[in-house]
Amino acid sequence: MDTFEAILTRRSIGRLVAPGPAGDDLDRILQAALAAPDHGELRPWKLVVLEGEAKDAFGAVLAEAYVERCESLGAAPTEGQLTKERTKLGRAPVVLVVAAVHRHSDKIPWEEQFAAAAAAAQNALIAATALGYGSMWRTGDAAFDSRVKEALGLGPHDAIVGFLYLGMPAEGSAKPPRQPNLADPEFDGVVERWERR
Ligand SMILES: Cc1cc2nc3c(=O)[nH]c(=O)nc-3n(C[C@H](O)[C@H](O)[C@H](O)COP(=O)(O)O)c2cc1C
Repeated sequence: MDTFEAILTRRSIGRLVAPGPAGDDLDRILQAALAAPDHGELRPWKLVVLEGEAKDAFGAVLAEAYVERCESLGAAPTEGQLTKERTKLGRAPVVLVVAAVHRHSDKIPWEEQFAAAAAAAQNALIAATALGYGSMWRTGDAAFDSRVKEALGLGPHDAIVGFLYLGMPAEGSAKPPRQPNLADPEFDGVVERWERR
């Protein structure tokens, strides 16, 4: 698949099934992420691959973090909510966590470091699409939870940019391309072409 086709056909697919990317395919997705533009070459990112039993272990972390979030609000989670947290990563065979890792720099602000990590996430999605996989970028409260970050080896100044769910689209879950039409009134004021003034 060529680059434009991958960019223009990528959609968020909520139900992904095996096979997920492995071997050379997974390596290419990781390489694509690491080829993202990165001001100052600070490498302000971390990629964590979760598959198989690692997804179960991480699901337990998500459930524990959820309990603590509920408790801090004076609430108690229901068994159903806990099961949902524990089994969330079952929505895809592979989940790639993309994190922005804060690097000390007098020149490159954190916003740019985060932007580089977000570009890495998008590169990974496009690479996965080009290789024929479905994908979905997810965040949610867990992405901002210090316990979840800690479990991934991240510090308080780092950030989870996204949980990228990767696999094959389940039957009936594929979506048509968006095909943005620049002439559509929806894009008035969104795309501007400045004339010489
Ligand atoms: C930073 C970020 C976080 C996202 N988090 C979620 C999420 O938690 N849950 C979700 O359903 N979709 C999430 N999405 C996916 C968007 O909802 C999706 O990209 C959007 O609806 C456009 O659909 P498309 O990806 O099919 O073009 C996220 C996307 C981005 C860029």
